[in-house]
Amino acid sequence: MSDELQNRNLPGIDPGLASDESIVKTHARIRREPSTAYPVLFFTCVAVIAVFIFSWFYARRYMGENNSYLHERSDIALYSDWQARPRGPVVYDYYAIGESLYTKMACVGCHQADGNGLPGQFPPLTGSEYVVSEDPTMPTKIILAGLVGPITVKGNEYNGNMAAYGPGLKDHEIAGLVTYIRKNWGNEASEVTADQVAAVRAEVGDRGPWTAEEL
Ligand code: HEC
Repeated sequence: MSDELQNRNLPGIDPGLASDESIVKTHARIRREPSTAYPVLFFTCVAVIAVFIFSWFYARRYMGENNSYLHERSDIALYSDWQARPRGPVVYDYYAIGESLYTKMACVGCHQADGNGLPGQFPPLTGSEYVVSEDPTMPTKIILAGLVGPITVKGNEYNGNMAAYGPGLKDHEIAGLVTYIRKNWGNEASEVTADQVAAVRAEVGDRGPWTAEEL
Protein backbone atom coordinates (compact mmCIF):
# COMPACT_ATOMS: atom_id res chain seq x y z
CA MET A 1 0.00 0.00 0.00
CA SER A 2 1.35 3.45 -0.79
CA ASP A 3 2.05 5.92 1.98
CA GLU A 4 -0.52 8.19 0.57
CA LEU A 5 -3.30 5.63 1.05
CA GLN A 6 -2.09 4.50 4.46
CA ASN A 7 -2.04 8.01 5.83
CA ARG A 8 -5.28 9.10 4.35
CA ASN A 9 -7.53 10.70 6.90
CA LEU A 10 -10.86 8.93 6.98
CA PRO A 11 -13.73 11.10 8.16
CA GLY A 12 -14.46 10.56 11.86
CA ILE A 13 -11.34 8.44 12.37
CA ASP A 14 -8.40 9.85 14.24
CA PRO A 15 -5.41 8.25 12.51
CA GLY A 16 -3.41 8.60 15.72
CA LEU A 17 -5.87 6.41 17.65
CA ALA A 18 -6.55 3.79 14.96
CA SER A 19 -4.35 1.07 16.43
CA ASP A 20 -4.77 -2.61 15.54
CA GLU A 21 -6.53 -3.17 18.84
CA SER A 22 -9.01 -0.40 18.32
CA ILE A 23 -9.80 -1.72 14.87
CA VAL A 24 -10.46 -5.24 16.21
CA LYS A 25 -12.71 -3.82 18.97
CA THR A 26 -14.60 -1.68 16.55
CA HIS A 27 -15.23 -4.64 14.29
CA ALA A 28 -16.42 -6.70 17.24
CA ARG A 29 -18.84 -3.94 18.20
CA ILE A 30 -20.17 -3.68 14.71
CA ARG A 31 -20.81 -7.44 14.64
CA ARG A 32 -22.76 -7.27 17.89
CA GLU A 33 -25.07 -4.55 16.62
CA PRO A 34 -28.37 -5.86 15.25
CA SER A 35 -28.36 -5.96 11.49
CA THR A 36 -30.68 -3.54 9.72
CA ALA A 37 -31.35 -6.30 7.12
CA TYR A 38 -33.57 -8.35 9.47
CA PRO A 39 -36.72 -6.14 9.49
CA VAL A 40 -36.59 -5.89 5.66
CA LEU A 41 -36.38 -9.68 5.35
CA PHE A 42 -39.15 -10.10 7.92
CA PHE A 43 -41.60 -7.80 6.15
CA THR A 44 -40.79 -9.30 2.77
CA CYS A 45 -41.66 -12.74 4.13
CA VAL A 46 -44.89 -11.45 5.66
CA ALA A 47 -45.84 -9.84 2.35
CA VAL A 48 -45.16 -13.00 0.36
CA ILE A 49 -47.18 -15.12 2.80
CA ALA A 50 -50.02 -12.58 2.66
CA VAL A 51 -50.06 -12.75 -1.13
CA PHE A 52 -50.23 -16.57 -0.97
CA ILE A 53 -53.10 -16.54 1.50
CA PHE A 54 -54.96 -13.93 -0.55
CA SER A 55 -54.46 -15.94 -3.76
CA TRP A 56 -55.73 -19.07 -2.10
CA PHE A 57 -58.97 -17.43 -0.99
CA TYR A 58 -59.31 -15.61 -4.30
CA ALA A 59 -58.90 -18.79 -6.32
CA ARG A 60 -61.36 -20.67 -4.14
CA ARG A 61 -63.94 -17.95 -4.46
CA TYR A 62 -63.63 -16.92 -8.09
CA MET A 63 -62.13 -19.84 -9.92
CA GLY A 64 -63.92 -22.83 -8.44
CA GLU A 65 -67.16 -24.57 -9.41
CA ASN A 66 -68.82 -22.85 -12.37
CA ASN A 67 -65.91 -20.54 -12.91
CA SER A 68 -65.85 -16.81 -12.84
CA TYR A 69 -69.34 -15.58 -13.52
CA LEU A 70 -71.07 -17.23 -10.62
CA HIS A 71 -69.26 -15.67 -7.70
CA GLU A 72 -71.13 -16.63 -4.62
CA ARG A 73 -71.95 -20.09 -3.40
CA SER A 74 -75.51 -18.83 -2.84
CA ASP A 75 -75.68 -17.90 -6.53
CA ILE A 76 -74.52 -21.36 -7.48
CA ALA A 77 -77.19 -22.89 -5.24
CA LEU A 78 -79.86 -20.63 -6.79
CA TYR A 79 -78.69 -21.54 -10.26
CA SER A 80 -78.90 -25.25 -9.50
CA ASP A 81 -82.40 -24.79 -8.05
CA TRP A 82 -83.41 -22.86 -11.14
CA GLN A 83 -82.06 -25.58 -13.41
CA ALA A 84 -83.86 -28.28 -11.43
CA ARG A 85 -87.17 -26.39 -11.42
CA PRO A 86 -90.23 -28.26 -12.64
CA ARG A 87 -90.91 -27.28 -16.23
CA GLY A 88 -94.54 -27.14 -17.26
CA PRO A 89 -95.85 -26.18 -20.67
CA VAL A 90 -95.34 -22.55 -21.73
CA VAL A 91 -98.39 -20.47 -20.96
CA TYR A 92 -99.15 -17.85 -23.59
CA ASP A 93 -101.38 -14.84 -23.21
CA TYR A 94 -102.80 -15.28 -26.71
CA TYR A 95 -105.06 -12.25 -26.62
CA ALA A 96 -102.17 -9.96 -25.64
CA ILE A 97 -99.90 -11.47 -28.31
CA GLY A 98 -102.61 -10.97 -30.93
CA GLU A 99 -103.34 -7.44 -29.79
CA SER A 100 -99.77 -6.31 -30.41
CA LEU A 101 -99.40 -8.28 -33.68
CA TYR A 102 -102.63 -6.85 -35.07
CA THR A 103 -100.85 -3.49 -35.24
CA LYS A 104 -97.34 -4.79 -35.90
CA MET A 105 -98.38 -6.99 -38.83
CA ALA A 106 -100.46 -4.12 -40.24
CA CYS A 107 -103.81 -5.96 -40.12
CA VAL A 108 -105.02 -2.69 -38.63
CA GLY A 109 -104.17 -0.82 -41.85
CA CYS A 110 -106.76 -2.78 -43.85
CA HIS A 111 -109.26 -4.15 -41.32
CA GLN A 112 -109.07 -0.97 -39.19
CA ALA A 113 -108.76 -0.49 -35.42
CA ASP A 114 -112.49 -1.07 -34.87
CA GLY A 115 -112.32 -4.27 -36.97
CA ASN A 116 -114.95 -2.92 -39.38
CA GLY A 117 -112.70 -2.88 -42.46
CA LEU A 118 -113.38 -0.42 -45.27
CA PRO A 119 -116.57 -0.72 -47.37
CA GLY A 120 -115.91 -2.26 -50.76
CA GLN A 121 -112.20 -2.82 -50.07
CA PHE A 122 -111.44 -4.66 -46.85
CA PRO A 123 -114.01 -6.95 -45.22
CA PRO A 124 -114.89 -6.53 -41.53
CA LEU A 125 -113.60 -8.86 -38.81
CA THR A 126 -116.19 -7.64 -36.31
CA GLY A 127 -119.09 -10.07 -36.50
CA SER A 128 -117.61 -11.77 -39.61
CA GLU A 129 -118.86 -15.32 -40.11
CA TYR A 130 -115.33 -16.26 -41.19
CA VAL A 131 -113.90 -15.05 -37.88
CA VAL A 132 -116.39 -16.14 -35.24
CA SER A 133 -117.08 -19.53 -36.84
CA GLU A 134 -117.58 -22.24 -34.25
CA ASP A 135 -114.64 -24.17 -35.62
CA PRO A 136 -111.57 -21.91 -35.26
CA THR A 137 -109.91 -23.69 -38.18
CA MET A 138 -111.55 -21.24 -40.63
CA PRO A 139 -109.81 -17.98 -39.58
CA THR A 140 -106.62 -19.93 -38.82
CA LYS A 141 -106.48 -21.24 -42.39
CA ILE A 142 -107.07 -17.75 -43.86
CA ILE A 143 -104.31 -16.12 -41.81
CA LEU A 144 -101.87 -18.97 -42.48
CA ALA A 145 -102.25 -19.11 -46.28
CA GLY A 146 -104.01 -15.88 -47.34
CA LEU A 147 -107.20 -15.31 -49.33
CA VAL A 148 -107.98 -14.22 -52.87
CA GLY A 149 -110.99 -13.65 -55.10
CA PRO A 150 -114.67 -12.89 -54.51
CA ILE A 151 -116.02 -13.34 -51.00
CA THR A 152 -119.17 -12.26 -49.20
CA VAL A 153 -118.81 -11.11 -45.60
CA LYS A 154 -121.86 -9.98 -43.59
CA GLY A 155 -123.84 -9.68 -46.82
CA ASN A 156 -121.34 -7.43 -48.60
CA GLU A 157 -119.14 -8.53 -51.48
CA TYR A 158 -115.40 -8.07 -51.67
CA ASN A 159 -112.93 -9.14 -54.29
CA GLY A 160 -109.45 -8.51 -53.03
CA ASN A 161 -106.30 -10.25 -52.03
CA MET A 162 -104.82 -10.89 -48.63
CA ALA A 163 -101.26 -12.15 -48.11
CA ALA A 164 -100.29 -15.32 -46.20
CA TYR A 165 -98.92 -14.80 -42.68
CA GLY A 166 -98.05 -18.46 -42.02
CA PRO A 167 -94.47 -18.38 -43.29
CA GLY A 168 -93.51 -15.32 -41.22
CA LEU A 169 -95.16 -16.12 -37.89
CA LYS A 170 -94.80 -18.87 -35.28
CA ASP A 171 -97.72 -21.05 -34.18
CA HIS A 172 -98.28 -19.14 -30.94
CA GLU A 173 -98.30 -15.86 -32.86
CA ILE A 174 -100.91 -17.05 -35.35
CA ALA A 175 -102.87 -18.40 -32.36
CA GLY A 176 -102.60 -14.94 -30.78
CA LEU A 177 -103.97 -13.22 -33.89
CA VAL A 178 -106.84 -15.66 -34.30
CA THR A 179 -107.71 -15.42 -30.60
CA TYR A 180 -107.58 -11.64 -30.68
CA ILE A 181 -109.91 -11.21 -33.66
CA ARG A 182 -112.27 -13.85 -32.24
CA LYS A 183 -112.56 -12.12 -28.87
CA ASN A 184 -112.27 -8.41 -29.64
CA TRP A 185 -114.88 -5.81 -30.70
CA GLY A 186 -117.68 -7.77 -29.05
CA ASN A 187 -116.76 -11.03 -30.85
CA GLU A 188 -117.24 -13.91 -28.42
CA ALA A 189 -115.67 -16.97 -30.01
CA SER A 190 -113.25 -19.45 -28.47
CA GLU A 191 -109.53 -19.00 -27.90
CA VAL A 192 -107.13 -20.81 -30.24
CA THR A 193 -103.90 -22.39 -28.99
CA ALA A 194 -100.51 -22.89 -30.59
CA ASP A 195 -101.12 -26.65 -30.71
CA GLN A 196 -104.33 -26.15 -32.66
CA VAL A 197 -102.49 -23.87 -35.10
CA ALA A 198 -99.70 -26.44 -35.49
CA ALA A 199 -102.28 -29.07 -36.46
CA VAL A 200 -103.91 -26.77 -39.03
CA ARG A 201 -100.53 -25.71 -40.36
CA ALA A 202 -99.54 -29.35 -40.89
CA GLU A 203 -102.76 -29.91 -42.80
CA VAL A 204 -102.52 -26.74 -44.89
CA GLY A 205 -98.85 -27.19 -45.85
CA ASP A 206 -97.35 -24.42 -47.96
CA ARG A 207 -100.17 -23.98 -50.41
CA GLY A 208 -101.12 -20.63 -51.98
CA PRO A 209 -104.03 -18.42 -50.91
CA TRP A 210 -107.51 -19.87 -50.51
CA THR A 211 -110.55 -18.85 -52.50
CA ALA A 212 -113.87 -18.46 -50.67
CA GLU A 213 -115.23 -21.64 -52.30
CA GLU A 214 -112.35 -23.72 -51.01
CA LEU A 215 -112.96 -22.78 -47.39
C1 HEC B 1 -103.36 -5.33 -47.36
C2 HEC B 1 -104.62 -5.36 -46.66
C3 HEC B 1 -104.82 -6.48 -45.66
C4 HEC B 1 -104.05 -6.80 -44.61
C5 HEC B 1 -102.75 -6.16 -44.16
C6 HEC B 1 -104.71 -7.88 -43.94
N1 HEC B 1 -105.85 -8.23 -44.59
FE1 HEC B 1 -107.17 -9.63 -44.03
N2 HEC B 1 -108.17 -9.37 -45.73
C7 HEC B 1 -107.90 -8.41 -46.68
C8 HEC B 1 -108.78 -8.61 -47.83
C9 HEC B 1 -108.78 -7.76 -49.08
C10 HEC B 1 -109.57 -9.71 -47.53
C11 HEC B 1 -110.60 -10.34 -48.44
C12 HEC B 1 -109.87 -11.15 -49.50
C13 HEC B 1 -110.77 -11.53 -50.65
O1 HEC B 1 -111.47 -10.65 -51.14
O2 HEC B 1 -110.72 -12.70 -51.06
C14 HEC B 1 -109.19 -10.13 -46.19
C15 HEC B 1 -109.79 -11.18 -45.50
C16 HEC B 1 -109.53 -11.49 -44.20
C17 HEC B 1 -110.31 -12.43 -43.42
C18 HEC B 1 -111.50 -13.23 -43.86
C19 HEC B 1 -112.67 -12.34 -44.20
C20 HEC B 1 -113.21 -11.58 -43.01
O3 HEC B 1 -113.31 -10.36 -43.13
O4 HEC B 1 -113.52 -12.21 -41.99
C21 HEC B 1 -109.71 -12.47 -42.19
C22 HEC B 1 -110.15 -13.33 -41.00
C23 HEC B 1 -108.59 -11.56 -42.21
N3 HEC B 1 -108.50 -10.99 -43.43
C24 HEC B 1 -107.75 -11.35 -41.13
C25 HEC B 1 -106.58 -10.59 -41.24
C26 HEC B 1 -105.57 -10.52 -40.22
C27 HEC B 1 -105.66 -11.17 -38.85
C28 HEC B 1 -104.57 -9.74 -40.69
C29 HEC B 1 -103.23 -9.42 -40.05
C30 HEC B 1 -102.40 -10.57 -39.77
C31 HEC B 1 -104.97 -9.30 -42.01
N4 HEC B 1 -106.17 -9.85 -42.29
C32 HEC B 1 -104.24 -8.47 -42.79
C33 HEC B 1 -106.94 -7.45 -46.59
C34 HEC B 1 -105.94 -7.41 -45.67
